[in-house]
Amino acid sequence: MQATVRARSNIALVKYWGKADAALNIPAVGSISITLDKLWTDTSVRFDAALAGDRLVLGGEERGDQLERVSRCLDLVRERAGVDLKAEVISSNNFPTGAGLASSASGFAALVGAAAAALGRDWPSRELSILARRGSGSAARSIFGGFVDMHRGSAADGSDSYAEPLADAASWPLTVIVAITARGEKAVGSGEGMTRSAGFSPYYRAWIDSHPADMAAARQAIRARDFAALAAVAEASCLKMHAAAMSATPPLIYWNGATLDCLQRIGELKAKGLAVFFTIDAGPQVKAVCLPEAAGEVGRELRKLPGVKDVIVTGLGPGLERL
Ligand code: PMV
Repeated sequence: MQATVRARSNIALVKYWGKADAALNIPAVGSISITLDKLWTDTSVRFDAALAGDRLVLGGEERGDQLERVSRCLDLVRERAGVDLKAEVISSNNFPTGAGLASSASGFAALVGAAAAALGRDWPSRELSILARRGSGSAARSIFGGFVDMHRGSAADGSDSYAEPLADAASWPLTVIVAITARGEKAVGSGEGMTRSAGFSPYYRAWIDSHPADMAAARQAIRARDFAALAAVAEASCLKMHAAAMSATPPLIYWNGATLDCLQRIGELKAKGLAVFFTIDAGPQVKAVCLPEAAGEVGRELRKLPGVKDVIVTGLGPGLERL
């Protein structure tokens, strides 16, 4: 009753920000993402009748503070499988946890995949996507590789709120350069950030209302392999999300000075004709998405910025993998 699964992180090009139902974790908007090849979580789940409670070891440390969220997600798997055994979860990320590199996305996707496999359940990917969504909205997308379309859905029970693959990783190779501008876990998580934005930002309504057009534009750009069109919609979606966060009460500024330096440099490189655009999640790291031929220069330029502590270069990768 043990299995190990690798799930990769993903970044949204059209962002998810805001919940339609907090208890069921149904997003207020859909999202479109790319799965990153070189950033992953490996998770082993072992169900054992001898365990009195669930246990979580993350990166070699017992994480009691994260256990409740993990147990709640395991409960959904147990309920669906009709099993009542406690589990030991041993998980590690090959990148910094909780700093806007989507560790919850790869983490909950790997958890659900490993738990189902440990119980010998071969559920369809769509079911895994729905279960992963309950752990973290962005995790629903990490079940799949390449370009992924997450549907907001309209059912009250969240049964049509799942991700689906749009195009596989090899069909349009892109390189993502992650500029790490700060280490350590962020002070305000995305859930709290969304609640504050929805409750207090005067721009939240505009964010929701303008979102379907961004989804349509991104799908069309991916279908047509139109990099300039994808760049325009992705940067706009990112800045609208951050505008809603910054204008909340109390305000939420996920950026630091180096974040802004990266945006400026990417803008200059773009003006020179390089195929690159930026996106930023609920943290200070900047992801520069490039056509592969632009990646060398973009990487070199970002590395030169004094506030950039490290750079990770990755292509697009596959969905869940059983190890
Ligand atoms: O999956 P969550 O609940 O941590 O939310 C993710 C929110 C963003 O990363 C900021 C945007 C997104 O779509 O991934």
